[in-house]
Amino acid sequence: MGTTLIRVSTYAVDTIRQSNSYYPQKIDVILCSSSGNTGHYTQKFVDSMQGDGRNVVVHRFHRKEEFNPVLGGDTLVLAFPVSGWKPPWPLTEYLFRNLPRGKGKPAFILYTAAGGPENAGFIAWTLLALKGYRVVGRLWSVYPLNVPTFRLGPKSLWRFIDSLTPFKKDIDLLTTAAKEFSRGERTGLPLVLWPTPLMLIGFLFDNRWINRFLYRTYVWRKRCVGCNFCVNYCPINRFSTESGIPKARGTCSLCFGCVNHCPKNAMQMRFWSEYGQPYKSRWSKFIVK
Ligand SMILES: Cc1cc2nc3c(=O)[nH]c(=O)nc-3n(C[C@H](O)[C@H](O)[C@H](O)COP(=O)(O)O)c2cc1C
Repeated sequence: MGTTLIRVSTYAVDTIRQSNSYYPQKIDVILCSSSGNTGHYTQKFVDSMQGDGRNVVVHRFHRKEEFNPVLGGDTLVLAFPVSGWKPPWPLTEYLFRNLPRGKGKPAFILYTAAGGPENAGFIAWTLLALKGYRVVGRLWSVYPLNVPTFRLGPKSLWRFIDSLTPFKKDIDLLTTAAKEFSRGERTGLPLVLWPTPLMLIGFLFDNRWINRFLYRTYVWRKRCVGCNFCVNYCPINRFSTESGIPKARGTCSLCFGCVNHCPKNAMQMRFWSEYGQPYKSRWSKFIVK
């Protein structure tokens, strides 16, 4: 009953909002991506808008503390990977605490997921609406799973599975949506959003208190060559070096970047990475170096 009411009211709000026209000229994009998938998806969207003559500025979200973009555009695009049925925790915090007020600015939501996108769009929509943005659409696509825990089996199997996504139809849909969006037309998936209990599980299993215990990062000393990739990459600066070996402290933000991108596969997360394969992205140029 509760979810049906929310569903009907978001649909009603969406319908009323769509009747107000918008015509984006200068578009700010906030892009969060830990292994490059969302970077690739967003680049396609940006290319398509630029092809239509729009002025697009991409603001890369990596470290919340260092993220202070000047959002001078007349429209906002928010792009992120789904993390535990919601946007990644640091980005959620930024949207809630630091995102400047939208004052009615139109916004579009883009997200990538390994298959379970539930609630992420709803949470992003709610946060943007709370900040005074007028969300005019959303779109998401299936991309390879970047959680080593579930990537069991031979590497070749995962290379094959990874090669299946993103589906061509999703990318075609995206480029069309970008053109329609930049012309101020109604586009993307409707904002009929249905929060499910999975949202609660997402918050229960990925938050700053639980993460401290559940996701312990450690270095496989024999493999570590002290390149310091993890030290420089970690979006929340958890690593310091002791005798040349990185040591993690504090709460993990669960991007899995240090585990997936370590050149020697030396970084591990207890119970979460020992058995599965790290995800080697096909779009490594979008990984923050
Ligand atoms: C901690 C974590 C939690 C995730 N949770 C979900 C999830 O709830 N549903 C889903 O479909 N994918 C989930 N994924 C997979 C990512 O959303 C997916 O691989 C995404 O394309 C990664 O994008 P990126 O490369 O831009 O970081 C999760 C990934 C991580 C690291």
